[in-house]
Amino acid sequence: MSVLIKGGRIVTASDDYVADIFIEKERISLIGSNLKVAADRVIDARGKYVLPGAIDPHTHIEFPFGATTTCDTWTSATTAAAAGGTTTVVDFCVQTPGKSLGAALDSWHKKMDKNKPVIDVGFHMAITDLKKPETMKELAAIDEAGITSYKLFMAYKGAVMVDDTTLFKVMRQAKEKGAVVMVHAENGDAIDVLVKDAQAKKHTLPKYHASTRPVETEGEATNRAIQLSRIAGSTLYVVHVSCKQSIDPIAHARENDWDIHGETCPQYLFFDESYLDKPNFEGAKWIYTPPPRPKEHQDHLWHALNKDVLSVISTDHCPFNWKGQKTLGRKDFAMIPNGGVGIEDRVRLIHHYGVTKGRISLNRMVELLSTGPAKYFGLYPRKGTISIGADADIVIFDPKKKWTISKKTSHCLADHNLYEGRKVTGTPVVTLVRGKVVVEDNKLVVTPGHGQYIKRANYGSKLLAKGK
Ligand code: URP
Ligand code: ZN
Ligand code: ZN
Repeated sequence: MSVLIKGGRIVTASDDYVADIFIEKERISLIGSNLKVAADRVIDARGKYVLPGAIDPHTHIEFPFGATTTCDTWTSATTAAAAGGTTTVVDFCVQTPGKSLGAALDSWHKKMDKNKPVIDVGFHMAITDLKKPETMKELAAIDEAGITSYKLFMAYKGAVMVDDTTLFKVMRQAKEKGAVVMVHAENGDAIDVLVKDAQAKKHTLPKYHASTRPVETEGEATNRAIQLSRIAGSTLYVVHVSCKQSIDPIAHARENDWDIHGETCPQYLFFDESYLDKPNFEGAKWIYTPPPRPKEHQDHLWHALNKDVLSVISTDHCPFNWKGQKTLGRKDFAMIPNGGVGIEDRVRLIHHYGVTKGRISLNRMVELLSTGPAKYFGLYPRKGTISIGADADIVIFDPKKKWTISKKTSHCLADHNLYEGRKVTGTPVVTLVRGKVVVEDNKLVVTPGHGQYIKRANYGSKLLAKGK
């Protein structure tokens, strides 16, 4: 099936021009003015942006967490992603403490074989336990499975948190293999003490989630991870940065050309801690970690995104229903599953509040949502840009179309949308993955299973399509 996209405004991280794109055999084969080629389908993109598909490098799909499991399936989450202009996700495959990395990988593949994805997928490996000596050997070989980034949680004590010995050993291994180390940076030991204090005082409400995870716990852990990675000589990527205390050490590191990088997520740009106070336990919807912060941190985050102190906007999509899942913590905030809904609206939100409000340029939006994650996570230049030979992962985005974000039009299975009722200008209208239209006018038009597992290249290496 060949596709000709006519007359759109092609925007990449560096370019902005009007041209036609011809797609054959899943890839972009021609870009030019007034292309005269016969195609099975012609899409009129005049007046629209033609963007490289967004990449979400931070999701938790069908993820068993605490006493429950995230409520989207691989099919629903990736349909939502595609409807919102995302064409690849890199999800966290998480080692069950005491079990092998191979068991985690098998279980993640099995879930995806059952509820098939509609967009492309890669995995990071989250290491939670190195007690068995063979785990390190497994890690050394995990690049054969296309996994070139390792994640460690410095929080969630008693569940998936690692100690500094584990963190440091993994960093050394990453240096050896050319992998990226990703950290959830919060001081889990201090937080554990603060949570127990709050419980002893019968502080049960959602707002105590924020007061027991102060910004300093994130700042301290970010700095600790940076310093350890300096000793190990590894590349560090700090996930879901939420506050100035974490931005500052990353800025310092980058000013000194250290190999330190960071992302933030829409929930930290658009919600503050007051959301946790919503009445009737509704605040539990905003229990994610790190927690929503005081409002002033939002300006620091936008500034960091603009100055490339933070280089990616991911979603940390970790959806739980309010009813039956968030409500597990009605009597104790610490029992509320941590995670928020977000995979579907990232591109719309960043376009509306970032680009149309003048906070970032259109090129920077593409860099933060697509090219940046593709480069960090071994997908570039096969993904993350529009160029000849790249996968035809393309979003046709109508910058003038009005859109009201709502659970009613969403493809996520969660019973709520954190952004419910927000009115934005600009929305994806057609999403193609490897040359196939997957979502059109917010409707899924492909059979689940179109999405493929992608084996990713090492950090700094190029991922090329087969036969190139
Ligand atoms: O609250 C969150 N972020 N849940 C998902 C796990 C994590 O920490 O990223
Ligand atoms: Zn995290
Ligand atoms: Zn996460």
